[in-house]
Amino acid sequence: MSKAIQAIRGMNDLLPESLSLWQRIEQTSESVLEAYGYREIRFPIIEKTELYKRSIGEVTDIVEKEMYTFEDRNGDSLTLRPEGTAGCVRAGVENGLLHNQVQRLWYTGPMFRHERPQKGRYRQFHQIGVEAFGIGTPDIDAELILVTARLWRLLGIHGLELQINSLGTPAARARYRQVLVDYLRGHFAQLDEDSIRRLDSNPLRVLDSKNPAMQSLIATAPSLHEHLDEESLRHFEQLCTALKTANIAFRVNPRLVRGLDYYTRTVFEWVTTELGAQGTVCAGGRYDGLVELLGGQRTPAAGFAIGLERLAELAALQKVSGAGRLPQVYVAPLGEGKVTQQGLVLAEQLRDAGLRVELHCGDGSLKSQLKRADRSGARYALLLGESELAAAQVSVKNLRVDESQQLIGLADVTAMLAAKLAEDTSE
Ligand code: HAM
Repeated sequence: MSKAIQAIRGMNDLLPESLSLWQRIEQTSESVLEAYGYREIRFPIIEKTELYKRSIGEVTDIVEKEMYTFEDRNGDSLTLRPEGTAGCVRAGVENGLLHNQVQRLWYTGPMFRHERPQKGRYRQFHQIGVEAFGIGTPDIDAELILVTARLWRLLGIHGLELQINSLGTPAARARYRQVLVDYLRGHFAQLDEDSIRRLDSNPLRVLDSKNPAMQSLIATAPSLHEHLDEESLRHFEQLCTALKTANIAFRVNPRLVRGLDYYTRTVFEWVTTELGAQGTVCAGGRYDGLVELLGGQRTPAAGFAIGLERLAELAALQKVSGAGRLPQVYVAPLGEGKVTQQGLVLAEQLRDAGLRVELHCGDGSLKSQLKRADRSGARYALLLGESELAAAQVSVKNLRVDESQQLIGLADVTAMLAAKLAEDTSE
């Protein structure tokens, strides 16, 4: 036997068992997004490296050390998408969707970051991303948050904390950056290696440090809020009022800075303590400068992305039930030739009536077929042998309730099962 080839570290197989919960999350998200007027967009998984460098920022962790970048056969530098916002904006600009228009868009799919894998942090992970273009007022920031709150509610997820902050305009942030750098330089001896590296390149990220030794220094650092421009402060206050009006609880976290450079004004995260260190299930904010930065006309925009691995794990912990729809009927032909053929016809007939049917294919004794029928999750098994076929009948066995088998005419069995199954689901 040759040695088995294993998956790439940090890239997971998603098996049918756990996908039932993913499907529930995906289906619920889709219907919530539809209810708010968002439409799906799909764009490539690979883009030119320059797109991510320009949008996410040259001196971010993602661009500096986490991208899957390679040269293709033409020598062009390409990158597997580490997130969806950049590609969504690129597609919007290129297809003329954004100029002078309001667009509410969503996408889903795998993203790739070469991070150190641990629980909740993978090298291939999945997001549902949502982006709203063309609206500069805080009502859309509030709407995006309402979309997520409704999704948690419909899924039955509880205990997520909403944290919000404002990063102001780029000019206000530049002023604050100087104040922060002065403060950090004044406490140089207390800085860890990472923070020293960030001091010149991206000092705001120092505030995001998870190093316990840095926390007291961070707690007494000057606050970005005190340096916000008036318009950003007003925007933020209006958002807070809208959230209060909609009864959405939140906490203002002045240290929330996010790891991507494109944000302006509002940023937010939904955080849980139930998943360990990787507790941010959903994150986003406003990025009014990005469309222009990527070659479009100046267009206000805001959005968020949900990390599906994290949300699915939280849903599993909170015993949210999945959407997986197992077969209802297992057709077991006990014989060959005509019996097998009749089994095929019967299964098709049942599917024509809208039932979910698994047909036993290949050989198998009665015992082994019943075992498989039970494992399939079906409620009824239909046993079809030579003698049943001769009498144009089939034997119906309830796999979930102990009752005697019933012989039913082949012409009647579809209607009878459809009625029984409808009864079962209405209970
Ligand atoms: P992000 O904060 O980089 O933002 O990622 C959003 C979410 O994706 C995180 O909160 C987390 O749930 C999940 N996530 C990120 N990295 C990983 C990983 N390595 N393993 C598992 N899950 C992960 C963005 O990507 C922005 N594009 C969001 C956005 C959209 N902002 C505006 N519009």
